[in-house]
Amino acid sequence: MLTLTAVAEDPLVLTRRLKLDDGQEVFFRPLTHTDAERLAAFLEGLSAESRRLSTFDGYDLKAARKLCDAIARHDKLRLVLEDGPSGRIVGLVEFSLDLHPSDIARYEEAGIHLAATDCRFGPTLADDHQGRGVGTQIFPLIADVARQFGRKRIILFGGVLADNTRAISYYNKHGFQQVGSFTGKDGAQSFDMILDLHPPSGTAE
Ligand SMILES: CC(C)(COP(=O)(O)OP(=O)(O)OC[C@H]1O[C@@H](n2cnc3c(N)ncnc32)[C@H](O)[C@@H]1OP(=O)(O)O)[C@@H](O)C(=O)NCCC(=O)NCCS
Repeated sequence: MLTLTAVAEDPLVLTRRLKLDDGQEVFFRPLTHTDAERLAAFLEGLSAESRRLSTFDGYDLKAARKLCDAIARHDKLRLVLEDGPSGRIVGLVEFSLDLHPSDIARYEEAGIHLAATDCRFGPTLADDHQGRGVGTQIFPLIADVARQFGRKRIILFGGVLADNTRAISYYNKHGFQQVGSFTGKDGAQSFDMILDLHPPSGTAE
């Protein structure tokens, strides 16, 4: 089973190359310490609407450095989607391997007992990469990362805003079930969703 330290020492263990449907070559790979400036460009480029739907602590070089400094130091695993030819970061996928007590309590209310084999995740694509099927094409890789960390279920990092129709369709499409709703600190309604990770097809249970 993979560990955060092992990934930080050898990011290639989780590096995958793929060709998107439109022919664009991309790499899906762990964030590394040398990514700060490219990650800052990604964060800075997010529109106000993307920032509303997927919130980060900041959208500048300082925030990007903080995310790079966190590599293998906390419970987070961050992977980026990199455009092959340009090296531009066009997506960020965040995993949290530790569960937050507030998540545990909310899911408990919905009758779901979260366990150490669960993890949280949240995807964010650059604006010009949204709605083109990119999230769908990388989803098998996302699920594979969770499996490699011995995870059996994935919940959403902070839920999904009730008016984020594209993300909700995306999660539904990939097998997530809505398990409850809650009101965030800012008064906005969000949904909790969970995915049972089945072994990839062709693999024995
Ligand atoms: C959410 C996100 C990762 C989805 O990835 P994506 O590549 O845009 O999604 P896809 O194009 O693969 O679409 C998946 C499904 O969503 C649905 N969908 C796509 N665009 C949609 C839209 N504008 N409105 C409603 N549903 C939409 C479709 O059902 C689609 O499947 P289909 O094309 O087979 O019918 C991406 O849009 C994103 O980063 N959004 C901004 C940040 C964000 O909201 N993150 C999630 C926070 S919880």
